[in-house]
Amino acid sequence: MSSHPQPQNGQEPIRFAYWVPNVSGGLVISKIPQRTSWDADYNRRLAQIAEEAGFDYALTQIRFTAGYGAEYQHESVAFSHALLAATSRLKVIAAILPGPWNPTLAAKQIATISQLTGGRIAVNIVSGWFSGEFRAIGEPWLDHDERYRRSEEFIRSLRGIWTKDDFSFRGDFYRYTHYTLKPKPAEPLPEIFQGGSSRAARDMAARVSDWYFTNGNTPDAIKAQVEDIRAKAAESGNRPRIGVNAFVIARDTEAEARAVLQEILDQADPEAVKAFGHEVKNAGKASPEGEGNWAKSSFDDLVQYNDGFKTNLIGTPDQIAERIVALKDAGVDLALLAFLHFQEEVAYFGEHVIPRVRALEAARERRAEAA
Ligand SMILES: Cc1cc2nc3c(=O)[nH]c(=O)nc-3n(C[C@H](O)[C@H](O)[C@H](O)COP(=O)(O)O)c2cc1C
Repeated sequence: MSSHPQPQNGQEPIRFAYWVPNVSGGLVISKIPQRTSWDADYNRRLAQIAEEAGFDYALTQIRFTAGYGAEYQHESVAFSHALLAATSRLKVIAAILPGPWNPTLAAKQIATISQLTGGRIAVNIVSGWFSGEFRAIGEPWLDHDERYRRSEEFIRSLRGIWTKDDFSFRGDFYRYTHYTLKPKPAEPLPEIFQGGSSRAARDMAARVSDWYFTNGNTPDAIKAQVEDIRAKAAESGNRPRIGVNAFVIARDTEAEARAVLQEILDQADPEAVKAFGHEVKNAGKASPEGEGNWAKSSFDDLVQYNDGFKTNLIGTPDQIAERIVALKDAGVDLALLAFLHFQEEVAYFGEHVIPRVRALEAARERRAEAA
């Protein structure tokens, strides 16, 4: 259960996070030229730009091997620490995959980074979608819901190790007997994010996560997920916050922004997109309800590998700001954003979009007070 301040539904400013491009090829499966690099120097500078632009979080990715042509992948925890060392306010969310990681090592690594950075590290517990990756590194590929059962035990273990002395736990995957971690993480405790939209993913979020991340979608579809999770979460007393993925194309005119989207789609790498689609749809089909994060994704949706075009943050700064506020109305607490040319577009977003969002939020607040 969350130890963080709970959101005052709709009253707090919406937060912004960006995807760290620590995997080569950017955030679209397309041959369109991208002025984005996966290397350390580019990413350190990007983190500084994002912090300056008003972003609260950066999210790293974990891949041991990728099925869609993302050839190089820096490891997420070590990379997160490098970004934290280059910044002073930004929080960095390190992706962690149960299986390769166990909670003992993760809790210790993250506690140390938390101590080194004044509590600016967070984690995103991911549950796996690529069976080929597991095969390549000799990890057993569990059934869909078993992966989430393991992730839930992983999260319960992390939280127990971080908050209790003499921690004991008897799970099917992990066991602890009077274990005391010292030092514990700095305050505030690392927030626990998780990704996934399937029934099992939502139920896990409702029970144990601080944050639920989901793929891009329309405000109505997101609202349905938020209501579903909040209703379930009420049973356990948890109140997970909601983060939604979006691929932003902000340009001075809508026509320019739409033209960029068209070019990304025209230059999509069909083999890589199909291979990716095959993997994620298979992973989702293995869930008992036969659905998953990508159950309804079309070829065009899959070109941005977490359905980021569907959120439609594509247009002028005014249009995008209004759509972000509509997401907030649907119950979203955080917009997780990807860009084509990260450094310059994150700076543009900070200059032109965030102030418009804040102005719309302030106007709503004034209206609410007047009423
Ligand atoms: C915002 C977000 C970030 C994710 N990051 C990663 C990652 O870095 N590595 C990874 O293997 N899976 C990642 N995932 C995948 C999820 O952990 C999960 O396996 C996937 O969404 C399947 O969900 P499903 O059960 O709803 O089909 C991410 C998912 C989301 C929504």
